[in-house]
Amino acid sequence: MKANVLLSPNNVDELYFTGKTTVVIDVLRATSVIVQALNNGAKEIIPVGSIDFAMKISVNAHGGQTLLCGERNTKMIDGFDLGNSPQNFVKGLVHGKSIILFTTNGSKAIVKAKYSDKLFITSFNNLTVIAEHLIDLGNDVEIIAAGSNGMFCIEDTICAGALIQTMKSLKEDIEISDAGWASLVLNDQFGSDIAKMLRESEHGKILIENGFEEDISYCAQRDNMPIIPFYKGGEIKLFKND
Ligand code: MLT
Repeated sequence: MKANVLLSPNNVDELYFTGKTTVVIDVLRATSVIVQALNNGAKEIIPVGSIDFAMKISVNAHGGQTLLCGERNTKMIDGFDLGNSPQNFVKGLVHGKSIILFTTNGSKAIVKAKYSDKLFITSFNNLTVIAEHLIDLGNDVEIIAAGSNGMFCIEDTICAGALIQTMKSLKEDIEISDAGWASLVLNDQFGSDIAKMLRESEHGKILIENGFEEDISYCAQRDNMPIIPFYKGGEIKLFKND
């Protein structure tokens, strides 16, 4: 079993993922939002790669039970129902709803990985249950750090390192790529205080400047929502063994 980390999804094309087992990470904030929404009973998340497409499918699909959510430059988009703050995806709003999600990096990274044989979504909120599931599967794993506009970002890489570290604590003999190794080292160095690391990251600072400091404490919680979000046929739902 081998684990690789893609330090940016831009380094590969869509076909790279064909037949692979893939995990997408965008801690601030797309994958934290997905975990929160599904944990609060959302029926499904539909990640999209453009605002136009989000608008188009919100009109046609899913019988009016949809919420249009996401951000551009961290802010809620005109005409959308919700932005990209995890704490706003409360049960009363999202339960039973289809959530169409557009974000600058996270939703696009998920769409890019759509040809994966198995595609999971993680954040610090559900890390251990994802590690356990990957070990049970026993496949080689591609971990996408969604990054920032095609560039490396520290928080997704450290989360990838924490995922590999947890996998290695369950199964010692996992082979890791150089990028996986670098992620492990960064997690060893900076992963013990997740909230501090997020606050000091470039995107964390931008979120704080834009009034989203509260979001960081939600994204920093470890293993408080042990669910497995699984992408299939354009939708992310809770994984069921069937
Ligand atoms: C992204 O996809 O880049 C993020 O989720 C951005 C954000 O929420 O600020």
